[in-house]
Amino acid sequence: MKSELVVVAGAGGFIGGHLVADFLRKGYRVRAADIKPLDEWYQVHRKAENFAGPMKGDCRDFRICRTLCKGAKEVYQLAADMGGMGFIENNKALCMLSVLTNTHMIMAAQEAGVDRFFYSSSACVYNADKQKDPKITALKEADAYPGLPEDGYGWEKLFSERMCRHFREDFGLNTRVARFHNVYGPNGTWEGGREKAPAAICRKVIAAVVSGKHDIEIWGDGTQTRSFMYIDDCLKGIQLITHSNILEPINLGSSELVSINQLVDIAEDIAGIKLNRHYKLDAPRGVAGRNSDNTKIRSYLNWEPDTRLRDGMERTYRWIYDEFTAKYNAKTAHLSSISTFTKGSHPIPGDGFNPESRFADTWKQGIPATYNGKASGTVKAARPAKKAKKSKPARKPAKKAKGRAAGRR
Ligand SMILES: NC(=O)c1ccc[n+]([C@@H]2O[C@H](COP(=O)([O-])OP(=O)(O)OC[C@H]3O[C@@H](n4cnc5c(N)ncnc54)[C@H](O)[C@@H]3O)[C@@H](O)[C@H]2O)c1
Repeated sequence: MKSELVVVAGAGGFIGGHLVADFLRKGYRVRAADIKPLDEWYQVHRKAENFAGPMKGDCRDFRICRTLCKGAKEVYQLAADMGGMGFIENNKALCMLSVLTNTHMIMAAQEAGVDRFFYSSSACVYNADKQKDPKITALKEADAYPGLPEDGYGWEKLFSERMCRHFREDFGLNTRVARFHNVYGPNGTWEGGREKAPAAICRKVIAAVVSGKHDIEIWGDGTQTRSFMYIDDCLKGIQLITHSNILEPINLGSSELVSINQLVDIAEDIAGIKLNRHYKLDAPRGVAGRNSDNTKIRSYLNWEPDTRLRDGMERTYRWIYDEFTAKYNAKTAHLSSISTFTKGSHPIPGDGFNPESRFADTWKQGIPATYNGKASGTVKAARPAKKAKKSKPARKPAKKAKGRAAGRR
């Protein structure tokens, strides 16, 4: 029945905002919540009942979750502290704190007796060992185990997936879990540090167009491969999976694999320019290769995400172009490359393992002894080397360099 109430947590975010719009279009009543104040939501839908800001929309708070879920037919749990690789590699504790949001939302949904609980998991749950080659075969659902997910963010997602399973098995709550693979489209993050590769690359190409400086910085060597799912496919998949009998976590992603270099080719083609590429090899780049194996979703639903990357990128580029030019001009375009996510921890190349990290001691716990060809006991933290680096330059230049490095990504 269309007058039924659905709850969308994380509604001020990219996917949540689109999902609210989708439900309203279909005639549902929608309760939308996000910890961000309303003026920071990507989309505000006045027809929804909006719970915004830390006092009304923080889903880490069980009392708020109870208020949200009361009387609801279905709950869509998308709220999470997350971002692209630059964010999740540098903010692992923040990512893991989303466990409070997921726990309290599922408890409240259970208490309210909702019909369906949808949880947005991620391809970051997959075992890192299976993603070391850019020419990787696509990830099947079973590849999440034995568990070696993305440190921080991926571990939390894997834990919350299992919580969904046990709430279903033990308490009879109808949970459904999709593992999203890189969603992109208009009305999402395109600058500031939480943006993902498609939006970041569109922004950088647009900055080059607007400023006339035909250079682009690419994180990693550009050979890392990914697939990207357009938002419309994501929305369709969420609806199909939630109302299906698929009880296991399932991939929701495109299987059109491209390298980051090819993604830049597409953005350049849309813009009608060619740029000089500069590779930032010490920047966060994530796993070497990741694609979605869609055998399961095809067999269950006779469907898979099918929007061509070129088409989705064109729509995304146009939207970011309008946002960009509303904010920057030829003189200020270069400022758009400054992001604020970094908290000073070292970027972690490849699979999440960084022997130089001063947190290596805690990272290696639970890692197989021969991981990365090294016994876990032999990993050494490189604190002294880091300190030596910092103390070298003279005072004044060091201060300047530090300020820049902290802001620039
Ligand atoms: N976008 C992707 O490519 C992708 C890939 C895999 C998984 N996911 C998952 O899909 C979901 C939505 O992703 P998105 O791209 O829309 O991200 P997003 O960052 O745009 O949206 C998430 C929203 O959750 C909100 N939030 C964070 N903590 C909250 C809290 N305590 N209470 C209420 N709201 C809170 C944030 O303010 C944000 O608006 C997330 O769970 C994410 O982990 C996304």
